[in-house]
Amino acid sequence: MADTYQASRQWERISRHWVTEEAAVDLANFKSGRPNHKISLWNPEVNGVRYLKTLVHNLATALGPADWERLRRTTHRDVGNPIAVRVGGESICLDYLQATLELGFIEQSVDLAGASVLEIGAGYGRTCHTLLSNHDIAAYCIVDLRSTMHLNRRYLREVLDDARFAKIRFVPVEDEDVDAALRESEFDLCINIDSFAEMAPETARSYLDLIGERGTALYVKNPVGKYWDESLDGHVEGDDALRRAMETGLLREVLDIHDDRAVRAAVPEFIAAYRPGDDWRCVADAWAVPWSFYWQAIYRRGRPSTGPQR
Ligand SMILES: C[S@@+](CC[C@H](N)C(=O)[O-])C[C@H]1O[C@@H](n2cnc3c(N)ncnc32)[C@H](O)[C@@H]1O
Repeated sequence: MADTYQASRQWERISRHWVTEEAAVDLANFKSGRPNHKISLWNPEVNGVRYLKTLVHNLATALGPADWERLRRTTHRDVGNPIAVRVGGESICLDYLQATLELGFIEQSVDLAGASVLEIGAGYGRTCHTLLSNHDIAAYCIVDLRSTMHLNRRYLREVLDDARFAKIRFVPVEDEDVDAALRESEFDLCINIDSFAEMAPETARSYLDLIGERGTALYVKNPVGKYWDESLDGHVEGDDALRRAMETGLLREVLDIHDDRAVRAAVPEFIAAYRPGDDWRCVADAWAVPWSFYWQAIYRRGRPSTGPQR
């Protein structure tokens, strides 16, 4: 009898170790365990990069022409060697994919031509890089922790030309009295992405008060609440990191972040929490792709000329 239909050497090994006779005895968890990681699913515990690249690839294939234009205008995105995929000949990573979506959302409500921008908590500077590359921004002020500012100052110096870099003012919170430093300034747009939720509640509130006085529009993108799901990361950073994460931000209610109804139920509180003042209104809000529990909103100061108030 010929061996034509017998298991390959690859499947001999799989049958010996994973898809064994014993695997068929108890079906309780097999779809989340080893047998299925050799049948229809890559083991998510060791395939993080694969899943990240898949996510970026899938999101990138859904981008529109304006998203791609924004990305192409934002040059030097590969500085720092991001985990990236290539779509349509263009290298793209999740950070700048989100940046182009964020800017697309902002552009619908805020005129950025000649705008003065304040960003609180800039990370390495992807948002600043994207805005300065796409609009004739007049001035861009970053308020951040001194340690992070070493990184964003260095990064932005690397990716921007001299003229654009010269528009940035850096205000480290440890070295300057932020209220005093910004006392004379007015901002057409204030930005906070993924950072109010990681500050002490009173710090986030103080920043919102400052924005309420000095800003005209605010873009916020942050989680709608906290989560406690050990299956996501094994709580590998330990109890101390968890405790610290749970005490930060204005929205500290624990929810199932992968239940879209639970997330949507938390949105009204999100909208209310980030409103900088009584004379501000939310003019746009939406789910912030791709994270199931992130929401984004634009607020404007002043009374609406038309349309509903939230
Ligand atoms: C998770 S990172 C997000 C960075 C960036 N917005 C992004 O989305 O890529 C949080 C940012 O908030 C900054 N941050 C934390 N506490 C801060 C504070 N008290 N004042 C200003 N910035 C703060 C961090 O230094 C960092 O830049």
